[in-house]
Amino acid sequence: MVDRSGWGRDRAVPTGSPHSPPAWFTEQANVTDSSVYETFETDWPACWERAADLLSWDQPYDTVLNDDEPPFYEWFTGGKLNAAYNCVDRHLESGRKNHVAIRWEGKHGERQTYTYRDLYVEVNEFAAALRGLGVEEDDVVTIYLPMIPELPIAMLACARIGAPHSVVFAGLSADALATRMDAADSEYLVTCDGYYRRGDAFNQKTKVDNARLALEADIETVVVDRLGDDLPHVLGENEHDYHDLRDQHAGETVDPVARDAEDMLFLMYTSGTTGEPKGVVHTTGGYLSHVAWTSHAVLDIEPEDTYWCAADIGWITGHSYIVYGPLALGTTTVMYEGTPDYPDRDRLWEIVDRNAVDIFYTAPTAIRAFMKWGTEYPERHDLSSLRLLGTVGEPISPRPWRWYHEHIGGGECPVVDTWWQTETGAVVISTLPGVDEMKPGAAGPGLPGIEATVVDDTGTPVEPGETGYLVLEQPWPGMARTLYDGNERYREEYWTRFSDPDEDVWRYASGDAATVDDDGYITVLGRIDDVINVSGRRLSTMEIESAVTDVTGVAEAAVVGRSSETGNTEIYAYVSTEGGYDPGTSIREAIIDSIDATIGPIAKPSEVVFTPELPKTRSGKIMRRLLEDIANGAELGDTSALRNPEIVGEIQAERGD
Ligand code: WT7
Repeated sequence: MVDRSGWGRDRAVPTGSPHSPPAWFTEQANVTDSSVYETFETDWPACWERAADLLSWDQPYDTVLNDDEPPFYEWFTGGKLNAAYNCVDRHLESGRKNHVAIRWEGKHGERQTYTYRDLYVEVNEFAAALRGLGVEEDDVVTIYLPMIPELPIAMLACARIGAPHSVVFAGLSADALATRMDAADSEYLVTCDGYYRRGDAFNQKTKVDNARLALEADIETVVVDRLGDDLPHVLGENEHDYHDLRDQHAGETVDPVARDAEDMLFLMYTSGTTGEPKGVVHTTGGYLSHVAWTSHAVLDIEPEDTYWCAADIGWITGHSYIVYGPLALGTTTVMYEGTPDYPDRDRLWEIVDRNAVDIFYTAPTAIRAFMKWGTEYPERHDLSSLRLLGTVGEPISPRPWRWYHEHIGGGECPVVDTWWQTETGAVVISTLPGVDEMKPGAAGPGLPGIEATVVDDTGTPVEPGETGYLVLEQPWPGMARTLYDGNERYREEYWTRFSDPDEDVWRYASGDAATVDDDGYITVLGRIDDVINVSGRRLSTMEIESAVTDVTGVAEAAVVGRSSETGNTEIYAYVSTEGGYDPGTSIREAIIDSIDATIGPIAKPSEVVFTPELPKTRSGKIMRRLLEDIANGAELGDTSALRNPEIVGEIQAERGD
């Protein structure tokens, strides 16, 4: 048994009673035949060909899976394709040029609609503009944009010319941007002057200027005018107005570059267990096949649907399920800028109602907020267009699951709880809504083609109901191929803990704890490493700690997650100061400012607790688990192994326990 004290504490909830998918749903679903699971058992990995079959290939692949050098797998080797062609051009060719590709809902009620033909024109013009700036195949282009249409357009323009994109979430700081550009050797940047969140305009350009100062290379920068005021005045050397550039290339087209299936489509930085963010590498053929197939089979997207994933494209969810998956299938994808509670708490439901949205996909943290706000907001609107609901990003316990099912789905729509990660590229654990029973609180079994198991320390599968480590036993097409900064780190982070190369056993270690029930349904409990998941966003405790220890006067810091009453994770920072430093001074603000500047406001701690010392083991290791227990008001285990047990009482007193 794995010692699960200290993590996922409140999440080890029993699953709720199962729900069968309603007949009206299965009658129309994309995948309804349970034999998809059998094909997996009898013909793996060939079963993944049905995913590749959803795409248009310039050259067919000759090998489905090349596993000659694990853990460096290759999928659909020999095949060639272009992701932008698959997401745009082919829908024009199939006579659907006037079908809506993107429906954009702006912050101030602005709306824009792009048909596939409009998208084709925009993507081509911007691809020509990028080429004009000197971008060549395999050059990494960094995109630092909020949720405006230029974001997916820029991604697809990059894909068209075979330049991998690296999208950095717009809310991250200048430091974070500079670190990521530097790590990716990226010399091109697409950004904007500013953007709106709630009522306020944010100046993005100043962050960009600061990041550029920190970088040695000359960065060609394209700036989108989002604020609508005097853009030319803020443009400096090597900076170009997005719309001017595009106008200079009006009407131009660029042939989509045929990329090898294994060529990089994009890089996505995510937090790992060390302070250094990891550049996760995704490829063209495997990734696109996997996101297209899961969009089809799990999210049940059909071309005529209006589909909405209310995430941010700055993270993997938006890459896979706002941009690549839905557009590969030729559907209408909604993207919205802003927040669910502005101008009012019914913003999302107003959008669902007005656009007759068929499928809605969001995160448990949002669902818990809706629950707290009350049913009056969804009740103001007609949500009967909805056919399927999805969740992603964190565990969802049965109560919010039922609330979502009942108050958003009218008690009718199936709910898919989809487990995946930046590294998995696409969904790997979920029910198939047209086939499987749903169990509130459990994500489901591995998808057909995925073998997900829960194992103990020694790698032996645990008994149903017991807690263990979630691992994936086989490779899958959407998997990360490596980390940009090196194969060794990739092998080390994911393929060492539970693999046995001598026996040719290769297992992907997800970093999550889970339980499995008698039917093979997996309930994910949460991270077991030094990564915390705040509102579905992944943060490294070490990264936050190093921002804290950067502050003058701080001696040591330990950052842990705390479950709030509403089930959200909050950040707790325990800080000891250098001798003579009075924590009562402005050091608290300096800590928050430093976190803001190095990571961004998303990593802001809800509590900074000053303590004369941090609790340590005799070997000098900070006892994070204990600090987590203190933060969570949990029962404290044996503290006798501590070098300084008296400190526990002092910390509790400081917190007012
Ligand atoms: C971590 C990955 C996948 C896109 C969003 C986050 C947690 C994700 C679920 C789920 C329980 C989940 C895991 C995972 N997670 N989905 N359905 N149930 N936990 O991507 O930033 O790479 O984070 O999110 O802890 O390891 P990410």
